Amino acid sequence: MLQPLPSWEFNSGQERAWHRPVLVREVVELLRPCLDGVIVDCTVGTGGHAEALLLASERVRVIGIDWDQEALALARERLQSYGDRFVPIHEDFKRLNEVLVRQGLSTVEGILVDLGVSSLQLETAERGFSFQWEGPLDMRMDRRRTVTAAELVNTLSERDLADLIFRYGEEPAASRIARAIVRARAHRPIQTTTELAEIVARAVGARRTTRIHPATRTFQALRIAVNDELSGLESFLDMAIERLAPGGRLVIISFHSLEDRVIKHRLRFHTGRCDCAIRRGAVWREVEPCPHCGAARRLVLLTRRAIRPSEAEVRENPRARSAKLRAGVRSRGEPLSAIHL
Ligand SMILES: C[S@@+](CC[C@H](N)C(=O)[O-])C[C@H]1O[C@@H](n2cnc3c(N)ncnc32)[C@H](O)[C@@H]1O
Repeated sequence: MLQPLPSWEFNSGQERAWHRPVLVREVVELLRPCLDGVIVDCTVGTGGHAEALLLASERVRVIGIDWDQEALALARERLQSYGDRFVPIHEDFKRLNEVLVRQGLSTVEGILVDLGVSSLQLETAERGFSFQWEGPLDMRMDRRRTVTAAELVNTLSERDLADLIFRYGEEPAASRIARAIVRARAHRPIQTTTELAEIVARAVGARRTTRIHPATRTFQALRIAVNDELSGLESFLDMAIERLAPGGRLVIISFHSLEDRVIKHRLRFHTGRCDCAIRRGAVWREVEPCPHCGAARRLVLLTRRAIRPSEAEVRENPRARSAKLRAGVRSRGEPLSAIHL
């Protein structure tokens, strides 16, 4: 039986531990037709979206993937009352195929991806994600990764640092910041979040008059680089769409324009928007892939434009302000290829 959406009161008193999920109602409504089957929450975090889905139907099973052991442990604890309807998996979601094979599944009814960093990660000083708390410059979401933000900041050349901060942070003052970092580390290695934030703030100077902290873009750039967030996103989307059963749905939330650009383009490609030089921009109406670029009508978009959080949601949860949600439904009747591992 379908249940009403939960209120978020069960989070009260635990704001620092639990991440507050964004666009929950929209996610549940878009995935409602999938609530009879299996939904993979590729970024389960502390389980906010997963719990909303589990509460919305007694029949749904949620496979929750996260590469952050600490987040996953909290999700497991939070969702234990749902028994085997919730399956937590410590893995990189880019290995979705392997996860499904291990679960004995070739397709699923729904896939949810809520990219970015969780409040748990941001607000734990020792994880080193935020300039608001003094902590080691770490920023690894998956602690099995070997390269930390400190290593990038203290070893990259000035040119590579500037390039990284410009490319992943879209920071206009990237060169000035890189120069200041290299000067500062000549005295001693930069070890903490607050040390780096001060160096960046001094480098950017009083010229910056926006509301965001001057180190925001530099921290975003380092986080993206440490976690290799953009590479493989396109091929992950291909894989996710391939693993949806006909009529299955993909919902994806991103928090910065670099990710959203890749998502928007790739989802369009899978609606049949041809990408090859010969038919650039044309719509390929066939189920069989275009012989030149591989575009095919695999997906129907459910969101012509990205869904954004309401003003009320942003007021309650300022971190929702940059969220963009896009969704699509897998075309019916199209043959699926076998899983290639
Ligand atoms: C914004 S949070 C998700 C919050 C979650 N929807 C909730 O309701 O609590 C993003 C999560 O995705 C995880 N994550 C990011 N990239 C990942 C990847 N490649 N593989 C697995 N997990 C990833 C992060 O560790 C983080 O816990």
